[in-house]
Amino acid sequence: MNKDKELNKKLAELEQGGGLDRIEVQHKKGKLTARERIHFLIDEGTFEEIGAFVTHRSMDFGLEKQKILGDGVVTGYGKINGRLVYVFSQDFTVFGGSLAEAHAEKICKIMDLAMKNGAPVIGLNDSGGARIQEGVVSLGGYADIFYRNTLASGVIPQISAIMGPCAGGAVYSPAITDFIMMVENTSYMFVTGPNVVKTVTHEEVTAEDLGGATTHSTKSGVTHFSCVNEIDCIETLKKLLSYIPQNCEEDPPDLDYSNSGSEVRKALNEIVPENSSQPYDIREIIENTVDADSFLEISKDYAENIIIGYSRIAGKCIGIVANQPANLAGVLDINASRKAARFVRFCDAFNIPLLVFEDVPGFLPGTDQEWNAIITNGAKLLYAFSEATVPRVTVITRKAYGGAYDVMNSKHIGADMNFAWYSAEIAVMGAKGAVEIIFKKEIAQAKDRVAKLKEKEDEYKEMFSNPYRAAARGYIDEVIKPEDTRKKLIAAFSMLKNKVAKLPKKKHGNIPL
Ligand code: HXC
Repeated sequence: MNKDKELNKKLAELEQGGGLDRIEVQHKKGKLTARERIHFLIDEGTFEEIGAFVTHRSMDFGLEKQKILGDGVVTGYGKINGRLVYVFSQDFTVFGGSLAEAHAEKICKIMDLAMKNGAPVIGLNDSGGARIQEGVVSLGGYADIFYRNTLASGVIPQISAIMGPCAGGAVYSPAITDFIMMVENTSYMFVTGPNVVKTVTHEEVTAEDLGGATTHSTKSGVTHFSCVNEIDCIETLKKLLSYIPQNCEEDPPDLDYSNSGSEVRKALNEIVPENSSQPYDIREIIENTVDADSFLEISKDYAENIIIGYSRIAGKCIGIVANQPANLAGVLDINASRKAARFVRFCDAFNIPLLVFEDVPGFLPGTDQEWNAIITNGAKLLYAFSEATVPRVTVITRKAYGGAYDVMNSKHIGADMNFAWYSAEIAVMGAKGAVEIIFKKEIAQAKDRVAKLKEKEDEYKEMFSNPYRAAARGYIDEVIKPEDTRKKLIAAFSMLKNKVAKLPKKKHGNIPL
């Protein structure tokens, strides 16, 4: 056969993956094919495929008669908004996208290239897990990937989009990566599926309830984004990448910014209610402070008492952690601490400055929290902030009580600039709780206990429920009007842009996992 023809025939074969019938089934499920996903993800004309002609080497269970070019995964590199990325996209039409020796080798090859060249790896996962016919070789292939995921962690960003089934060991590679996105109704993740669950625990549960996008974005927190369809997933992934540097040696991509007017934001004066026990939505403060429409919230439906996400201030990329008084009064609990800690570590690993908005009444009390280790989990956030060497700025909008004051990026654990709004209350605890303890006897002996309690509460509020005690010690650098927040933050992050801070020499720390 003429050489041109031979190559063209093979290339045409590649386009068909596991065949037109299986592609039709894929489409009927509302899913794109592996190649279609790459088409929507990568800038036009920039995708370069690697290993298109790889096939498996298995001779068992009749596999020797079914060799499909590419072995169920499309791998290569290309650009997203002009920036290099490496990508693998599993092809469910080929052996259900199952992973075996050759398939794994292809993924490892692009991971190795990504590490050497300092660019993100994006995995588009759609796979029935370990290819059963290849046995232990498939398990080895997974482990080769897990190992690389771990070595790459903190060196290059790794993002997993789950666009189909993801079962068994297949969930652990995404779990090690930095961000997971899922598609509603067509993707799921679990270690063991509904049938195994039924056999072992006698629970009846659908795949969707056990490990669908809604479950993982609300109950487990495993996924960071739940997307309405695959295009939404791909677009969100691109937006996420726009805040992230290519590797740990680079700075995040800033945008040009020219001040077209005043940086004062009067609307900020109206958000925090007079009554300090009334809730408000911290998102209003975030949105009135950062550049217009720049806030990308992460894990928004999980541990809603803390908000995390990326944004820009005067064009500069920042990571935001904010207590949310509109949910559980913004208290810190196990899930909120874990959610924020992992985010802080990602930002620190990739040179993304941190901004904290603080309004926190403390840690959540109770047996549930204590028995499930709020001590260890709360310490994760404390540890994550303490070891972060990126520029770190805090704005206390209202409450900063107890241990949570220390944990939420306080000066004492290495924050660079700490602002407090004049509405801030920085104290060991709220006034009522405090006076009930320190004036217990006095209140008990008073003729009018209610009046005494009120008198002591007012006294305590006057002394402690303000930012000036902390400012007098230098724990707060400046007490500011809400409307000046944006102006102060632009100046602070600009001042901190060349910050150099180093941790003591060590192999690695031992975060309370
Ligand atoms: C080989 C597989 C496969 C697998 C699916 N296929 N999973 N082939 N190994 N693991 C093939 C099917 O035979 C079928 O081939 C095609 O893919 C599509 O599968 P269907 O079952 O027809 O599709 P669907 O009904 O959509 O169901 C998808 C599915 C189901 C839910 C993923 O196929 C399934 O349960 N597969 C097995 C999942 C599993 O148990 N994997 C092992 C996990 S253990 P044809 O030729 O008919 O198109 C694991 C250990 C790793 O991963 C440990 C690492 C530490």
